[in-house]
Amino acid sequence: MAGSPPRTSPVDLARRAVRRTLSGSVRAAATPVRALARAGRDDADPRWAGTAWIWQPGWGKGCHDRLYRSANPYGIDGNAYEQQKYDRVLDALAGRRFGRVLEVGCGEGDLSERLAGVTDELVGVDISDAAVARARTRVPSATFETRTLPGAMPEGTFDLIVCTDVLYYWEPVTLRVGVARLLERLRPGGVLLAYHYRGDFGQIGSADAVHALLRGHTGTRGTVSEDCDGVGPGGVGALFDVVTVPAAVPTVAVPGQRVGTVDLPRRVDAGW
Ligand SMILES: C[S@@+](CC[C@H](N)C(=O)[O-])C[C@H]1O[C@@H](n2cnc3c(N)ncnc32)[C@H](O)[C@@H]1O
Repeated sequence: MAGSPPRTSPVDLARRAVRRTLSGSVRAAATPVRALARAGRDDADPRWAGTAWIWQPGWGKGCHDRLYRSANPYGIDGNAYEQQKYDRVLDALAGRRFGRVLEVGCGEGDLSERLAGVTDELVGVDISDAAVARARTRVPSATFETRTLPGAMPEGTFDLIVCTDVLYYWEPVTLRVGVARLLERLRPGGVLLAYHYRGDFGQIGSADAVHALLRGHTGTRGTVSEDCDGVGPGGVGALFDVVTVPAAVPTVAVPGQRVGTVDLPRRVDAGW
């Protein structure tokens, strides 16, 4: 979605400039509040995940709700960036079928519609009630819930978690805690897929921060790691990663020994 709607009328350009300025101002104003709230607290404290409303300044629930007051705020149907992104995501899934799937920041269900075709059970979550309501109408076979992640994670575990153009709204601590929470929810052998536009539209995080974290993660194995140069508004490009958590495989039963499971070493997993 690359952060801002693709229409380019003078009014839209003006709106975009105002939004960018306001986002920057809110972000700057929130800095001392964040610093104060963080004082003396460990960066790994899982309670950070519950405070996304502070850590998503300028692009919190209110902003997304306002954007979704009218349908299709990003004009996705005619947007080349979005369409190539969805195509690339589906290509990467390589015709595989997944059991339970979580789509983070599903918006109005554009990608959900495609994911539903390769999924037994699709759960889409979004911060915006209006977006969720439209997604429900659009993809009746899936479940959609209004949730602000990473604080309000849905129940259960997943075979696939999809995050397209959403994790760059999270500031560094929320991002670290949030990605850890998402990975914890993957079943053995599960897959996390992330695709993000690299442009700066006033958001607190960035595609580079999201994907550096995923690429440097020691508990997962990357199966796709792409710099998608030239795509998106301004030709700024995007980053795409698919990582898997190790599959647990049954151990060979030895008499007198407890039968359990072991995690495969990081680079020995047979692929997904
Ligand atoms: C740029 S749009 C991307 C929509 C969709 N993932 C796609 O690629 O077409 C970002 C979406 O994430 C949602 N969102 C933003 N922050 C969120 C959060 N903390 N938790 C859940 N959804 C969020 C927004 O409401 C919006 O629908």
